Amino acid sequence: MDEKLLTQARDILGKAERVAVFSGAGLSAESGIATFRGQEPDALWSRFDPMQLASVEGFASDPATVIDWYNWRRGKLAQAQPNAAHRAMAGHPGLMHLTQNVDDLLERAGVPESNVLHLHGSIGKDRCHAACGIEEDISLEKPEPLRQCKGCGAYMRPAVVWFGETLPQDIWSQAEVVCMEIDCLLVIGTSATVYPAFSLVELAAGQGSQIIVVNTEAIDSNQGALIEISGKAGDILPKLLD
Ligand code: OAD
Repeated sequence: MDEKLLTQARDILGKAERVAVFSGAGLSAESGIATFRGQEPDALWSRFDPMQLASVEGFASDPATVIDWYNWRRGKLAQAQPNAAHRAMAGHPGLMHLTQNVDDLLERAGVPESNVLHLHGSIGKDRCHAACGIEEDISLEKPEPLRQCKGCGAYMRPAVVWFGETLPQDIWSQAEVVCMEIDCLLVIGTSATVYPAFSLVELAAGQGSQIIVVNTEAIDSNQGALIEISGKAGDILPKLLD
């Protein structure tokens, strides 16, 4: 860990009036939740086909396999615990969280639900695939197999965003407002490759916000005012936010 960069970042955070966090799968990696890309050997998209498991087309061709895969991930999440990075951030209730993660580890660490904007939805819920309005909380320990919506008979599916789908509009609008009001954005554990989510970081930077990145690998970003601290979120966040 680069102590000079850490001090610089702490200084910026100390002076900032409004800070938000933009996070990705790397934030939950130390809780045992697999990332999607990156160098981790268990990265999901190096083992599974995203178009089969995370797209409308994949669901249409084999819905049971898609549900089984999400239920397997739900089982992993049921056994996971928030890590030191989640806990460090939960100690700062003023932080707003814009997260690409569909897990609930921030909330389980104690971050108020109202402070977490899940840009890509929640794996802890199912919704009607035909969008008739039915949404149900599910058990992570005992999720249900493929089933039909009680309202309209279409299939139920995880309430997450798949490739090619639009992000939840209300959440997106709130996230944009946050990015226009902050003076510092902490960007944690993301490969910075998935849009439109990452455009929120560009929006914040364009509005003059300082950007502090905490990641195990360098991210491909052309943001000007950027401090990049290389390392694990669970090691760095407690020191950064102490
Ligand atoms: P990725 O898996 O693309 O990137 C995770 C990043 O975290 C990589 O750059 C890793 O090097 C880094 N990383 C791993 N362990 C870390 C640790 N302990 N501390 C800090 N960094 C660590 O995940 P996302 O950027 O979140 O979409 O992926 C974006 C979206 O792509 C996901 O939300 C998902 C996926 O397809 C949907 O589900 C819609």
